[in-house]
Amino acid sequence: MIQIRNLCKTYGGAVDAPHALDDVSLDVADGDILGVIGMSGAGKSTLVRCLNLLERPTSGRIVVDGQDVTSLAGAELRSYRRRVAMVFQNFGLLAQKTVLANVCFPYLAATGRVTDQNRARALELLEMVGLAERADSYPSQLSGGQQQRVAIARALACEPDYILCDEATSALDPASTNTVLKLLRQINRDTGVTIIVITHSMGVVEKICRHVAVLEAGRVVERGSVADVFAAPRSQAAKVLLERVDWDA
Ligand SMILES: Nc1ncnc2c1ncn2[C@@H]1O[C@H](COP(=O)(O)OP(=O)(O)OP(=O)(O)O)[C@@H](O)[C@H]1O
Ligand SMILES: [Mg+2]
Repeated sequence: MIQIRNLCKTYGGAVDAPHALDDVSLDVADGDILGVIGMSGAGKSTLVRCLNLLERPTSGRIVVDGQDVTSLAGAELRSYRRRVAMVFQNFGLLAQKTVLANVCFPYLAATGRVTDQNRARALELLEMVGLAERADSYPSQLSGGQQQRVAIARALACEPDYILCDEATSALDPASTNTVLKLLRQINRDTGVTIIVITHSMGVVEKICRHVAVLEAGRVVERGSVADVFAAPRSQAAKVLLERVDWDA
């Protein structure tokens, strides 16, 4: 499990710089699908970048299965990063490479080569996301939703324990969004992988998350099961996101 403790992140060196993350503490249970929701600038992307250590927290700890990962370096850091896959809004596929080569890319990055076994596994993953027959296509020949499914297959290549999705469906139309969300839920159910879904859409949270944390100005202002928070949001931020604010009150 992931235990985030008193996490602070300030960009730049200035003492008076605003906190992108301000004393965030949060637990993510194994096998959960956690939504992290908040307005633009609330700190959602900063939180995921800290979780996979693309960004170093200014202070605080991230403890994964009992190990503080914030101090990892070198080979240990690389091996931790392989346990934490990322799926981005803009898919992040390599345009010059085929779909199959994209899914194989994590193997290439990790070991410098792609074995027959790697290719066979990549094809299985493409099968899982329903795109095996597009293995030889190039990303530009696929729709946005299909590209995101390839990105999800690639994320699974290294058998991660965690998948971090940062606005993974924000660029997609409603039908493709649903397909991608269903796929993530199915992968969670079949493999037990823990998924953290960053989004500004309550609809996305409602569709696939079990728990939700609401970020506002770098702080967690509300958390709980999706059912509880949606039925009775307590924070102003959650009410605004759910559009349940009575502006005239
Ligand atoms: N590289 C950076 N350098 C300086 N400030 C940054 C950087 N990245 C983010 N910030 C600031 O940190 C705060 C949180 O940004 P972050 O990108 O985490 O928000 P977000 O919740 O992901 O927003 P959005 O929904 O727009 O993606 C913002 O005030 C932002 O301006
Ligand atoms: Mg963001």
